[in-house]
This record gives sequence, C-alpha cells and structure tokens, in this order.
Amino acid sequence: MSNILVVNSSPNPDTSVSRALATQFVEGWLDDLPDTTITYRDVGLDVLPHVDQDMVAAYFTPPENRTQEQDQALELSDAMVAEVETADVIVIGSPMYNFGITSGLKAWFDHLARVGRTFDYTENGPVGALGGRRVFVVTARGGSYQVGSPAAAMDMQEPYLRTVLGFLGIEDVTFIHAEGMSGGTAGKDAAEAEIQKLLESVTAVAA
Ligand SMILES: Cc1cc2nc3c(=O)[nH]c(=O)nc-3n(C[C@H](O)[C@H](O)[C@H](O)COP(=O)(O)O)c2cc1C
Repeated sequence: MSNILVVNSSPNPDTSVSRALATQFVEGWLDDLPDTTITYRDVGLDVLPHVDQDMVAAYFTPPENRTQEQDQALELSDAMVAEVETADVIVIGSPMYNFGITSGLKAWFDHLARVGRTFDYTENGPVGALGGRRVFVVTARGGSYQVGSPAAAMDMQEPYLRTVLGFLGIEDVTFIHAEGMSGGTAGKDAAEAEIQKLLESVTAVAA
C-alpha cells in the first residue's frame, strides 16, 4: 500500500491546468493501485500564513526549550511536515507565476524547511531529512522554456523546485511540463500523454 500526498498550488479552482494534471496522475495511479491512501494539501486555495518572527524563533529553539506559544506557532508546520514524512509519493501541481512558483507553494516550503527537523547543517554541508520518497511535479506555463529554447534561462521554477527539494533530501524528482498554455491546449495534451506513459512504468514498480 502507498501513501500519496497531493500538493496543489494554483489559486484557480476551476480551470487550472496543473490541478487537472495532478488529478489525472492520481486517478491513473488509483486505477492501477486502488489500495493507495491519498492526502490533499491545497496551498493555492487554503492560503498559508507567511512564516513570521515567532515561527522563526520557534524553528531555532530546541523542542525541549519551546514555550507553549512556540509549540502552537509550529502546529501547522508540524502537520505539513508529518504529511510529507508519511508520503511515499508526492505529486505537486505547480503553475508558473512570474517565472517561478506561486507564493502559496513558496510558503509551503517555508513551513517545511526547518533546521533540526527537516534538514541539518553538518561538517559536509546541509543534509536534508526528507529523502526516500519520490516526487512528481506537474507544471503549467503560459510560455515555453524547454532546454535550448531562447526562454530556457528564464525558468526559475524547475531549478528552484529541484534545489529546495534536494536541500530537504529529495533527489528523486520527475517533472511533467504543460507548456504554451497561453497559445492553446497542445501542451496540455502532450503532458497528459506523458503522464499516461509514465504511470504505466511507475505503478508497475510500486505494485
Ligand atoms: C499572475 C500570473 C503570472 C504568470 N506568470 C507566468 C510566467 O512568468 N511565465 C509563463 O510562462 N506563464 C505565466 N503565467 C501563465 C500561467 O503559468 C498559466 O496560465 C498556467 O496555466 C497557470 O497554471 P494553472 O492553470 O494550473 O493555474 C502567469 C499567470 C498568472 C495568472
């Protein structure tokens, strides 16, 4: 049995391409492996608070020294860290906004990245604690940023996500991009076909 965490981050509830692709991924997975638990975290619609001074102070206070207020300040972060720790597979729906990710998804990472909890500084540099799980990122973009294209260097979305996930210890990351969304549906069709193909191999391994 697997646990999948689905993190949607589009503020658009109805016609979001990244949401549709994340749903396709999950439904396809469930067709093959119905004995799977799905947990949803929607950081696009259920807006997260920004990390503030109280939270940062709590992050840097060892658990045994925290005040009750500091424990409370970390409750949401603790819950979201636990969701990641419980998941074997994470599916992230990520629209490109201003060449990067949406602010909701950025806030999710700000709640996840905690020294002493999800990463540590060692003599060999920072080491993430959330490895051992696979991440699939389905993106939607108005333009096209494929490697070799003139706009490739403007893609701050995939490099950022690879960096922050790697920092947290997650290196097994697969991207499926729906590109050119401002010019038609061909990019979405291609992403759907890619997901279909990917699922055939991924669920066979997970079974
Ligand atoms: C505020 C905003 C900023 C955007 N910035 C970019 C951008 O920098 N590059 C791009 O290719 N598309 C950009 N787009 C287009 C979106 O990436 C595209 O509409 C995508 O389908 C959004 O994902 P969603 O359908 O899952 O919400 C932007 C759209 C919005 C609303």
